[in-house]
Amino acid sequence: CGIIGYAGHRPAVPLLVEGLRRLEYRGYDSAGVAYLQNKGLQVVRAEGKLKNLEHCLTECQHLQATCGLGHTRWATHGLPTTQNAHPHQDEGQNIALVHNGIIENFQELKQSLEAKGHHFASQTDTEVIVHLLADNLGHQNTLPKALAATLHQIEGSYALACIHRDYPNEIWAARHSSPLLLGVGQGENFIASDIPAFLSSTRDVVFLEDGEVVRLTPNSWEVFSAADMQPVGKTPQRIEWDLQAAQKGGFKHFMLKEIMEQPQVIQDGIAGRIDDATQEVVLDEIADLPIPGRLHIIACGTSFHAGLWAKYLIEEWARIPVQVEVASEFRYRQQVFQEGDLALAISQSGETADTLAGMRIARENNLPIVGLCNVVGSSVARESDGTMYTQAGPEISVASTKAMCSQMVALLLLAIAWGRKKGTLSAEAAQQLTGQLQRLPHTLSTELERMRHAAQRLATQFSKARSFFFLGRGLGSPLALEGALKLKEISYIHAEGYAAGEMKHGPIALIDSEFPTFALAPQDSLLPKVGSNLQEVQARGGKIIALTHPGTDIPSDERWEVPQMGSALDSFLFLPALQLFAYEMAVYLGKDVDQPRNLAKSVTVE
Ligand code: G6P
Repeated sequence: CGIIGYAGHRPAVPLLVEGLRRLEYRGYDSAGVAYLQNKGLQVVRAEGKLKNLEHCLTECQHLQATCGLGHTRWATHGLPTTQNAHPHQDEGQNIALVHNGIIENFQELKQSLEAKGHHFASQTDTEVIVHLLADNLGHQNTLPKALAATLHQIEGSYALACIHRDYPNEIWAARHSSPLLLGVGQGENFIASDIPAFLSSTRDVVFLEDGEVVRLTPNSWEVFSAADMQPVGKTPQRIEWDLQAAQKGGFKHFMLKEIMEQPQVIQDGIAGRIDDATQEVVLDEIADLPIPGRLHIIACGTSFHAGLWAKYLIEEWARIPVQVEVASEFRYRQQVFQEGDLALAISQSGETADTLAGMRIARENNLPIVGLCNVVGSSVARESDGTMYTQAGPEISVASTKAMCSQMVALLLLAIAWGRKKGTLSAEAAQQLTGQLQRLPHTLSTELERMRHAAQRLATQFSKARSFFFLGRGLGSPLALEGALKLKEISYIHAEGYAAGEMKHGPIALIDSEFPTFALAPQDSLLPKVGSNLQEVQARGGKIIALTHPGTDIPSDERWEVPQMGSALDSFLFLPALQLFAYEMAVYLGKDVDQPRNLAKSVTVE
């Protein structure tokens, strides 16, 4: 989603629409604006592209308005309809509010507000915030006090901004775990989720931190701490990026930006899915579906690799037999289905033709279907009996990175949930996993930059290779497939991913000093086995990059150590290492990273 707010001396609405256009790359399914004019609060919203909103605005008087908010939505709760589009309003129509993020406790808040007589017009978590704010305003007489009270009650991630009829020319905004920044101009100020939204008007930016609240008017801006509403000192920074660089968050490519977003992706993926009190996994979306006797995972490309990875976890923790198949084979094979089977379709876009065809085969055979996808309201979501959203935000780079990470988070939670329901996974084991998962975003965010430097160094060293092996065992085996896929997709270097133990049955014939191997060697029970496979590679003169943990003893020419998280969680550090390696190789070789030749982001034909 994207937020833009303006308080100044120029007509606000055209600036808001312009800002929304600049935020279009953040994803799009509906948009809206709110503005104050003649002491009244006007809200205009439209489903679909921005031009639909512009069309609605041609019928409105808005040129006198000099303060307002805009929002582009990329749905996480509720379908992309006009009703679910932002800004949302309270019942008295005094407040308009836009929000980006996920409110984890919105169901409980909604219930308690409904008990007090509130009526809701949408299915969004955002509408709950604006009702809560109105409710608090009834008790605390000022908007800042009511906002502070509201922020104490909501849990989750948010960047939000609101305007109030009785506070003309004023915008109040707050952030917690979702980006929000201020653009400081001359007689005008902006608030936005990203710099491109106001870059044509100002380059002076104040970055807000978690737990901060801001008040802006045409001639002033003040930042407060949400905890006690005491002022916080801030200094604007001058941004020298051009528009393109700004859209990529200052990164050179969307792919790099998306790799670096993975700590946030993990956080959003677990948001609201782990009970604070019990630490148990709660997956409301699929609560009504049976626990499968057998599971058929259907997917393509990177999503298929996420499925292969999940098989290990679901079989170990939930003791459910899992078949994972590329959708293009699944759809044409004479399947043997039986009572209790369930299909799980994994798709970032939710529009991949083969995956949809596979789902239809499952449907014809009366299998319940769970969809795991990133795009709300997509075909996969519509054709599933229950949908788990991965909540990764739009992925723009053709090579999929953060989407796989988000799928793995969801699949890990699913394996835990089924394991607990069946009693095959103990509460202690589950708690240990969820605890590790909650610590993961922090560890990953402190490591990513270091990993990038390691990848850069290796890329310069290995850029002349024309072929690569990626080897791993256990959970490392699907990751090896993904590492090879990433390298071929964006650097056009031939790469093969293999289960390490299978090397000796043929591929090893290819090894010589010009054919390097990238080995996944985590500190686990299979490490000695990976070690002996690597000895076989070394004996044939093959160079080895070993992605491993501190303290392991394995043959290698280049050791690449990442911190050990324990069990399945290690994959979440190995995956970005593989992605960064492919990325740095492609950059070094001067390839078109975000739009590799011959590939499409979503393959909607067979
Ligand atoms: C295309 C993309 C891949 C993606 C695959 C499946 O081939 O280039 O990156 O993994 O489709 O896409 P889906 O949207 O179904 O996950």
